Amino acid sequence: MIPQAAPARRIARFRRQVDEAVAAVLGGEAYVLGAPVEGFEAAFARFCGAGHCVGVASGTDAIALALRALGIGPGDEVIVPALTFAGTAQAVLHCGAQPRLVDVDPRSRCIDPAAAEAAITPRTAAIVPVHLFGHPADMPALTALAGRHGLAVVEDCAQSHGASLGGRPLGSFGNAAATSFYPTKNLGGVGDGGAVTTDDPALAARLRALRYYGFAGPERLSLGIGFNSRLDALQAAILGALLPHLADGNAERRAIAADYRARLDLDGLGLPPEGEGSVYHQFAVTHPRRDALAAHLAAAGIGTAVHYAPGLHRHPAFLEAAAGPLPVTEALSASLLSLPIQPEVAAGAPEAVARALAGFAS
Ligand SMILES: Cc1ncc(COP(=O)(O)O)c(C=O)c1O
Repeated sequence: MIPQAAPARRIARFRRQVDEAVAAVLGGEAYVLGAPVEGFEAAFARFCGAGHCVGVASGTDAIALALRALGIGPGDEVIVPALTFAGTAQAVLHCGAQPRLVDVDPRSRCIDPAAAEAAITPRTAAIVPVHLFGHPADMPALTALAGRHGLAVVEDCAQSHGASLGGRPLGSFGNAAATSFYPTKNLGGVGDGGAVTTDDPALAARLRALRYYGFAGPERLSLGIGFNSRLDALQAAILGALLPHLADGNAERRAIAADYRARLDLDGLGLPPEGEGSVYHQFAVTHPRRDALAAHLAAAGIGTAVHYAPGLHRHPAFLEAAAGPLPVTEALSASLLSLPIQPEVAAGAPEAVARALAGFAS
């Protein structure tokens, strides 16, 4: 059986490094924030080419706190793609603003800049582009749009650790970038975690206060609203042990993706967009008979997953949130199927999937 993803196999692969990192926290003095979190924040900021990294409790908190630190709140609208994980839009609700769901581009599967522009109202305050499946959204068009309309941009980099566009790291285009270290991510821990990266020191300082009861100095006085949303020290240490292997893992993902491209051949099968900056968080194909294809692959011992169905506009929390028609989101949510791509499980997957597809075709 080839599972769609198996985070425990990555931990097993780097078990010695992870054990050493955990032991260092257990034997150290800081169980909350302190050296383990600061060490990881510095390393992740370097990896992203960002001036600052603030570790928080989850990817959802990272987006919500970034929006809040940018001054977004009640009365504001935030433009979000309809095809993404629910956490992206939940984060908008958390800061008191309203998500406005817009359609995605059929090729990139990321937010369509024209649809985003059509959704702008006098209340629009920000855009949250998602680099879905590790492929870049059209950041030049989106930042130009944001500049014309005075909007903040928070990039959702939960699925794009290490990805770039035109040689420039994703996460460096907007005011801030939010990420998740959920176990299945390209860089994932053994629990929840997230971070915000930014080049803006004042924004980073506001984020540090927001994640820590509103404290901003050694006096530990609450200066305003604050939360308990710190990146856990054990997670930070484990992420720090895995970070030096992230670039190699991304290269392995690209090689598996190339192998899929060379081998997969089936009428009606759509392949993910190509792009040298992609990090293939998922290798998501499309097929008009998606569910039958998933069942066929399962019978052949190949795990798959659907990311994401239905579109967010069909979730009860977001029934009023569509800013316009969403035909591409509808079509993709009915046809996307994520094949195994995690390096620890997927080395032989392209050959196995190709063999199974031959049976599906006949
Ligand atoms: C695109 C995207 N945004 C946001 C999130 C939310 O992150 P978390 O689960 O860490 O809250 C995730 C993943 O979980 C995600 O894939």
